[in-house]
Amino acid sequence: MENQNSSVRPAIRRVLGIETSCDETAAAVYDGRTGLAAHELYSQVSLHAAFGGVVPELASRDHVTHLTPLIARALERAGGGAEAIDGVAYTAGPGLVGALLVGAAVARSLAFAWKVPAIGVHHLEGHLLAPMLEPDPPDFPFIALLVSGGHTLLARVTALGDYELLGTSLDDAAGEAFDKTAKLLGLPYPGGPALARLAQQGRRDRFAFPRPMLDRPGLDFSFSGLKTAVVVALKSITLDAATRADVAAGFESAVVATLVAKCERALDATGIATLVVAGGVGANLHLREQLAALGRERGIVVRYPRPEFCTDNAAMIAYAGYARLAAGESDGLAIRASARWALDSLTPPHRGALHRAPR
Ligand code: KG4
Ligand code: ZN
Repeated sequence: MENQNSSVRPAIRRVLGIETSCDETAAAVYDGRTGLAAHELYSQVSLHAAFGGVVPELASRDHVTHLTPLIARALERAGGGAEAIDGVAYTAGPGLVGALLVGAAVARSLAFAWKVPAIGVHHLEGHLLAPMLEPDPPDFPFIALLVSGGHTLLARVTALGDYELLGTSLDDAAGEAFDKTAKLLGLPYPGGPALARLAQQGRRDRFAFPRPMLDRPGLDFSFSGLKTAVVVALKSITLDAATRADVAAGFESAVVATLVAKCERALDATGIATLVVAGGVGANLHLREQLAALGRERGIVVRYPRPEFCTDNAAMIAYAGYARLAAGESDGLAIRASARWALDSLTPPHRGALHRAPR
């Protein structure tokens, strides 16, 4: 343990990343010289499908079952084994606290046993930095649109840890709206990807659903009214296969048009010419097409991670942890897990042990 928190620490090259904040168990190894060395993921979707949503206690238990074999596989695929690991990063929040604790306890214990530093990573920082895993990563500063199951926000990202919140959802997150609307259409959990697939067969102009908050200034979002508009529409129609696809297409178009318009506003307001899209809804093809079109129109750079790194994964946690550990930050011996933790409370990396206290 002698070097655990001393200011003289060997250079960080390889970091093991662990993600257990919700319903995916994942482990990855990021190498500062050669890039992503391995990433493994086990999705709990089939476990929770019968309940129509994530059951927190079942999620925690399933993480306990799957995490260590996944870590072993990631280390094996990366080559070099545990001896090659210079630090361990884990998602410390926000998320389901029982699920987070599984990853946090395992990660901190491994770091202790291996005599390397550990760091608790903010899950949304992981999402924001996921495009850095791609061959042509964006330069700072950029505008980030983060659209996941639990969060919808626009942020100005000036540097690692320098995140200014420009707008956020006042009610449902974009992914949550997709999931709830999918449920209304009788689609199985998780509804977002299923609704998106159905939308591809539908007519986008049959249902003119409202584009929430576009009539008001500002960069906040609201999606609950749109969901209500779908409920009202469904009451007056017979839901045959074609109509279901048309409702899905109308809903997806309304969400995407709103997200694109808010991105445009954020770019206008800041004068920044790079846009990054991250989070599960960032895997949505219609959103990616519309943002690519916006990029061409305005001559701006638009970057997104590959779809598997839009949804939850450990590669983004390994990368974010690497970036902070390599800058000299670490967490000491604390095991950290916080259900709530504001993204804009993060700061750029600090040298030495830093006891950031998420709330
Ligand atoms: O980032 P993520 O994997 O988990 C959270 O941190 O929340 O995001 C999951 C969300 C779910 O709501 C899911 O339905 C949505 O992302 N999602 C999609 C698509 N793929 C995942 N929504 C729309 N279209 C998709 N292709
Ligand atoms: Zn996520």
